[in-house]
Amino acid sequence: MRVLFVSSEAHPLVKTGGLGDVAGALPQALVAEGVDVRLLIPAYRQVLDHLDTVEPLISLGDQLGMGEVRVLQGVSHALPLSIWLVDCPVLFDRPGGPYQDQQGVDWVDNGLRFALFSRVAALLGVTGRLTGWYPDLIHLNDWQSGLVPVWLRQWGASRPATLFTIHNLQYQGLFPKTLMSEIGLPDHFYDMHGLEYHQQLSMLKGGLYYADRLSTVSPTYALEVQSEEMGEGLNGLLSDRREQLVGILNGIDTRIWDPQHDPDIAAPFDKERLDERDRNRAPLLIEMGLPVTEPRVPLFGLVSRLVPQKGVDLLLAALPEVLESGAQLVVLGSGMPLLEQQLRQMQQQWPTQLAVWVGYSEPLAHRLVAGVDVLLVPSRFEPCGLTQMYALRYGALPLVRKTGGLADTVDEQSGFLFEEVSVESLRGAMNQVLDAFQDQAAWRERQQYAMGRALDWSRSAKQYKAVYQQLLPTDTGSMK
Ligand code: ADP
Ligand code: GLC
Repeated sequence: MRVLFVSSEAHPLVKTGGLGDVAGALPQALVAEGVDVRLLIPAYRQVLDHLDTVEPLISLGDQLGMGEVRVLQGVSHALPLSIWLVDCPVLFDRPGGPYQDQQGVDWVDNGLRFALFSRVAALLGVTGRLTGWYPDLIHLNDWQSGLVPVWLRQWGASRPATLFTIHNLQYQGLFPKTLMSEIGLPDHFYDMHGLEYHQQLSMLKGGLYYADRLSTVSPTYALEVQSEEMGEGLNGLLSDRREQLVGILNGIDTRIWDPQHDPDIAAPFDKERLDERDRNRAPLLIEMGLPVTEPRVPLFGLVSRLVPQKGVDLLLAALPEVLESGAQLVVLGSGMPLLEQQLRQMQQQWPTQLAVWVGYSEPLAHRLVAGVDVLLVPSRFEPCGLTQMYALRYGALPLVRKTGGLADTVDEQSGFLFEEVSVESLRGAMNQVLDAFQDQAAWRERQQYAMGRALDWSRSAKQYKAVYQQLLPTDTGSMK
């Protein structure tokens, strides 16, 4: 079974969030299940800089008027996979992030960039004679690859089959209608039953409407996206397609997130050596510029993109009362300037109890998860969420809102849950933590239970493989 796995990011080559983690780990787990996988990502400058070797695989000539487009083959010791790269220097070889420039502003040509990326993925699906490798199926991820099934349809190609995975319905890849003619897609696709979404072209809708099968990254989110409150205006389409929609929970890369062999943390540990775990606390506090208190007070942590989705505003409002009890909080995050600024202001008011590190740091994320007692994930919605799973594995009890993948991965024994999106509910759950922390023997038992949970990718990889199998060779499953 040959699968082209298409993603706009893949850790450790390029990552802005959980999609990067998934695209770095799931393809490897699929290979372990016997699937022949090629990972396809754009040849961003930062990716080319990361690779050990890069060689041209094929040339596709001029595409969309952007000059010669090639597919390169990359090798990385840090990502042991067959890595294919879409090389279009005008669009991808530039400094900055995958979607934004160095100032955090979206690239103005994102429409063209990901239309071209999708087009090349689709071309690889139908021109296997060039590479000698025909995929049976293309696995698409989020709006950046949403046009793949649209190109396939335009060319009348019945193969390869397509599975589109929704990691986050809120990011839709919306562009002006004029992009249609720029990228040479006929107008008939621009329709309510097609790509049009409130007078714009939605790349996400391309995937949702035209892919043979759909999935979300947790079973609960698969239900939530069909509801009016959480369906982002696409709930009608998604509930029409519910027979073709499945929720498969993400796993985590237990080699990268392994408390016994984590090169970034002060003291390795496992569930039988929780005293060792405690040795990660003081170095973290010192690194974050907080005093090491005796007797010990509960230490909360947050590792997050700072955006409304993540409920950081709820946390800001709930925090003063919790800090008054003496607890401490360390924050690692970046995102909306307003939230960054509000966190910094609060840090000034609570300098011995709140530390905020604005920026992005993988090693610090590991040290934080290893050192805190509780990891906060107060999200308004969360398709899956990975940080709560890293926390479980590292014995930091997660405090989460009961939504999406958070509800599917955290229970009352392994963590703390609150239901309502409100400051009071969050504060109530944080107060529960303060109470529970008094009984250290019971706390340790909960840590051991959390750390014993099976979170690796093998189960989910088997589920994806089963979905791939259903799509081949007879069932094309499309709604049209
Ligand atoms: P999302 O994809 O919505 O951001 P996830 O929980 O699925 O949420 O994944 C977030 C990933 O990004 C995790 O690997 C988390 O550790 C990482 N992350 C988020 N913010 C930071 C940061 N400031 N520094 C380092 N890692 C971060
Ligand atoms: C998205 C979601 C997050 C999920 C990640 C990986 O970024 O916001 O909940 O864990 O994708 O699937």
